[in-house]
Amino acid sequence: MEAQMDETTEATGVRLSDSPDWRYLLREVDAMYRQGSDGGSAAIRAHRRHVRERISAVVEANPALVYRVPVEKPVCAYLGRALDNGTGGAMAPMARALARVAGELTWEYGYTKVPKGLASKYAYAELMGPQGPVPAERIILGLVLFAPKTTYPQHSHADIEESYISISGAWSENDLAVYAPGSLILNRAAHEHRITTGAEEPCLLAYAWTGVPERLSSPGMKFSARRRARVEQGI
Ligand SMILES: [Fe+2]
Repeated sequence: MEAQMDETTEATGVRLSDSPDWRYLLREVDAMYRQGSDGGSAAIRAHRRHVRERISAVVEANPALVYRVPVEKPVCAYLGRALDNGTGGAMAPMARALARVAGELTWEYGYTKVPKGLASKYAYAELMGPQGPVPAERIILGLVLFAPKTTYPQHSHADIEESYISISGAWSENDLAVYAPGSLILNRAAHEHRITTGAEEPCLLAYAWTGVPERLSSPGMKFSARRRARVEQGI
């Protein structure tokens, strides 16, 4: 497929098959969605299968990677600790594979205006999607990093199904439970969710978005604050 290029991206001409760090990273993401249990949920089983099928299709197509300018955000100061914790836990292979590409990631806020207090506590980086670095039309894979003691405001995603899997750190969604590394949460389209992280350690989540190409290339995100709702990009 053609990736969506802008002034911050360019085609590298380097195929996925010639990029071992990215190939192995995708293998680990696939393993996260293949191994373990669906907890008996048909919806989660279907989502996991969709994610695996879409990763497989991209690996088979062997696209040229898209170069994106590496960008850090203040929360990246916690990435080392998050990866260190991750390599000692259930998601160690994924944490190690991520460490290999950490210097190439483009961390973003996704907001036209970052909510007060969030700029130093949160950022996300895409691994696969319409903008690369691994180009794909029908799925977005990414990471979101939270500093300790962060609240990510309530929001929902139109026409996009989202899952989070923790690589490192504990988090809660909608005050319902505490999730540990390896746990998966499925947020179906339009489901309202709000994330909080623990007091001491950062939290690194992998996420997958599935949806139709038109929506993934321009994902709207609706915030549900009592103030005027705004449509933004973001996780
Ligand atoms: Fe979300």
